[in-house]
Amino acid sequence: KRTVVLISGRGSNMTALIAAASDPAFPAEIVGVISDKADAAGLGVAKARGIATQVISRADHGSKQAHDAAIDAALTAFQAEIVALAGYMRILTPGFVQKWQGRMINIHPALLPAFKGLDTHARALAAGMRIHGCTVHFVTSEMDDGPIIAQAAVPVMVGDNADALAARVLKAEHRLYPLALGLVAEGKARMEAGRTVLAHFAD
Ligand code: GRF
Repeated sequence: KRTVVLISGRGSNMTALIAAASDPAFPAEIVGVISDKADAAGLGVAKARGIATQVISRADHGSKQAHDAAIDAALTAFQAEIVALAGYMRILTPGFVQKWQGRMINIHPALLPAFKGLDTHARALAAGMRIHGCTVHFVTSEMDDGPIIAQAAVPVMVGDNADALAARVLKAEHRLYPLALGLVAEGKARMEAGRTVLAHFAD
């Protein structure tokens, strides 16, 4: 499945998706990377791997709707079948989300529905959590709220600070996101009536 990744920064999850998709047996192909930030470090990584990149910045568009319409046009030009948000730091407009519903996924650095939003690692530590992790979910119009596709848990260690915990979660993200994208691309994870339907794996 033709997949476009949306980023705003570092792009380490994007890099993990590109690495997984470089295997011809992987069911998704990364055909493009779109960033809303011209200085996103991930853009250089994508280019170095021969992936088409595009910068579509909010400042060049008069409204959020116009910005998302430009992204939608780029996705159409890429003939995208799946959109993977990977550290894309903007809330997408309801019309855009509706159009891509069931075909757009996001990774969030917490075990949803706990710790939606920002600063998840510091908040998990402050709450005294003994486990933490990451979630890949279908994107709906509520932020970090869509049906869950896959999750990975990591332990919170004694003496952890937010950076140490973030690094442990990030490693799990890099394994989880390719797995979840693969499930969606193969049709083994589908969104139906606001829920995720997972295939039963035959033995
Ligand atoms: C990741 O922790 C991701 O879960 C969150 O933003 C961070 C992006 O990191 N949505 P990167 O750009 O993929 O390195």
